[in-house]
Amino acid sequence: MTLDNPNIPEKIRAVATDGTQLRYALMELAATLPDIIALGRGDPDLPTPTHIVEATKAAIRDGRTDPTPVAGMPALRKAIAAKLHRENGLDVGVDNVIVTTGGQEALFLVMQALLDPGDEILVPDPRYTSYDDAILSAGARMVMVPTEHTDAFNLRPEAVEAAITPRTKALLIVTPSNPTAGIVTEDRLRAIAEIAVRHNLIVISDEIYEKFVYDGWQHFSIGSLPGMAERTVTLNGFSKTYSMTGLRIGYAAGPANLIEAMARIKAVTTGPAATVSQHAALAALNGPDEPLREFRRIYAERRRVMMDGLSAMGLDYSDPRGAFFLWTNSSSTGIHATELSYLLLKEGRVLIFPGTGFGENWGGYLRISYLQATDKIREALERMRPVIERYRVY
Ligand SMILES: Cc1ncc(COP(=O)(O)O)c(C=O)c1O
Repeated sequence: MTLDNPNIPEKIRAVATDGTQLRYALMELAATLPDIIALGRGDPDLPTPTHIVEATKAAIRDGRTDPTPVAGMPALRKAIAAKLHRENGLDVGVDNVIVTTGGQEALFLVMQALLDPGDEILVPDPRYTSYDDAILSAGARMVMVPTEHTDAFNLRPEAVEAAITPRTKALLIVTPSNPTAGIVTEDRLRAIAEIAVRHNLIVISDEIYEKFVYDGWQHFSIGSLPGMAERTVTLNGFSKTYSMTGLRIGYAAGPANLIEAMARIKAVTTGPAATVSQHAALAALNGPDEPLREFRRIYAERRRVMMDGLSAMGLDYSDPRGAFFLWTNSSSTGIHATELSYLLLKEGRVLIFPGTGFGENWGGYLRISYLQATDKIREALERMRPVIERYRVY
């Protein structure tokens, strides 16, 4: 689908081929409009669990404003290593863990530490385009691995292998996926791990949405497979799992030399993650599971409302196995997704990201997040319907 007759302003059109900039331009535009229902960003709206808030307050009250070692507080690194061992089956110790200022910093640091100019990294398409920015700024080249709607955007081992060249250094996996809400299933991960070992690839496994899987689907960590400990960097964070995006805390776990290289870059850029946020993260890991179960219940309910509403509008979406998005095929409207997002924002007062925010090939998709209360989701669906009806190309 092309953007040939777009009813969109220059500000949006100018960044239409840069996924990250496009998402930001739409958010900036939304901030100038009244009464917007935001189904754009992937930042949880639910309140941070009380025990985490209390731990953060206590950290400030107790004067925990001194900096920690650059890779993080030893107690937190230890707790993260224990969590990865217990829940993900990873064989990691304290030296294999670095605490970062959000998963965002972890993904940037890993690309800087790992990739040299001219290296190739395999990236599933569509994708969270922050990875593009991190990879390109390291001077490396992205090689896209196509994923498909008919396969619920699961990653195909044959497609991974077909994209490998002598320059391929690494493979990126994001499961559950932003933006598709697909997961990479265990059988596929096993086959991909064999390919990684055979071709001596490093695997970067972004598992930031691991806690949000639905309909009996299971999250699986590729780093737990034989031969993978020495070649996998597992990336995660607290923003999504514990609804604490603004505390900016995440981590990466992998081979000690790579973690050390990341720490050296971190030392001369941001330094250690905020101490109070590290205390919050420690409380999250040591605290009860109850809030998380409640988050899952709420997201599952919203997901159902959104699925039913989109189906009633005649919009198809990929099987949402995880995360909190619906990767919606909007091509039946005949409107390019960038234009459609703009119209939905301007006339419907609903902020939704176009598929092109996640790769230039995705002008027939919308990424709709369900990070709003169900009544707001219902209202957003009501607002979307007439806009689509008005502009639909028959
Ligand atoms: C796939 C993925 N990885 C990493 C991040 C970074 O999140 P944060 O920096 O809040 O931990 C995000 C945020 O949206 C994401 O979608």
